Amino acid sequence: MNQMTSPLGKDLVGLERLSGQQIRAILDTAEPFKEISERRIKKVPVLRGKTIVNLFFEASTRTRVSFEFAEKRLSADTVNIAAASSSVSKGETLVDTARNLEAMRIDMVVMRHGSSGAARFLADRIPSNVINAGDGWHEHPTQGLLDMLTIRDHMGRLDGLKVCIVGDIRHSRVARSNIYGLLKMGAEVAVCGPQTLLPQGIGDLGVHVLSRVEDAIQWADVLNVLRLQLERMQAGYVPSLREYNRIWGVSTARLERAPRDLLILHPGPMNRGVEIDSDVADGPHSVILNQVTNGVAVRMAVLYLLAGGQPEKAEAAKQGGEA
Ligand code: CP
Repeated sequence: MNQMTSPLGKDLVGLERLSGQQIRAILDTAEPFKEISERRIKKVPVLRGKTIVNLFFEASTRTRVSFEFAEKRLSADTVNIAAASSSVSKGETLVDTARNLEAMRIDMVVMRHGSSGAARFLADRIPSNVINAGDGWHEHPTQGLLDMLTIRDHMGRLDGLKVCIVGDIRHSRVARSNIYGLLKMGAEVAVCGPQTLLPQGIGDLGVHVLSRVEDAIQWADVLNVLRLQLERMQAGYVPSLREYNRIWGVSTARLERAPRDLLILHPGPMNRGVEIDSDVADGPHSVILNQVTNGVAVRMAVLYLLAGGQPEKAEAAKQGGEA
């Protein structure tokens, strides 16, 4: 594979700067890769010989494990580094950490970091491909992509669909990646949440702003329900969790008043009984675990494309060829 011919460029930092065509290429490439995870032997030699470092400075279950499965199923060699067990805890800078890893001849870095802009900062300073696995409040591009793939799977399209992102928009990198991606794919997007959890000027991104969850349920085809990010909040954004659930919680009683069946997404981790009730999360319209399954295929697609694979050759690559 030739990195220079990657249809995505060197890095995946966010969806803001990708075109609709590039996003479609990732989603279409993920389609054939889904089947690899259903095999008895879940491995193809697409990234044989590539070395990938998963560098996680913040907690993660889904994203870290999903990237690791994607890398291993494509036969890459992988190393996981958590901040607490690395020399970052002794004061080493991010760039020094990455340069030391590069001195051991790596090819890609997947990074989660608590600071917005950390992925771009690193991508501009090292020659390896950098994939943003979530940076502060900025973006979480592979989550946005797997959300779009899951919506497309169930609704048959993204173009013209009405998708409302509900909850803590202010602290959400998932919201930003969804907004950028969905708008580029032709969806209509709304955000809905308490005034304190909507960033100023959010409407300038081209989204509708709805002030009641009942309005979101009337308007939307799809609800993407976000976690209340309690760990990023100073006191005072919501009166109490009980109050939040009473006013903003997505419940069966509220969904029963919808004019149509809504598809329900949540990026996880969920606060059950806060932003979403358990009977909705586990109910017939929830695709929350489908999102997790699709995450592996989307991340395989991103790794393959950044390594120089071409979308039209993904089907052949998964049959046993190296990309
Ligand atoms: N959706 C998501 O980013 O989950 P994790 O924090 O578990 O990776």
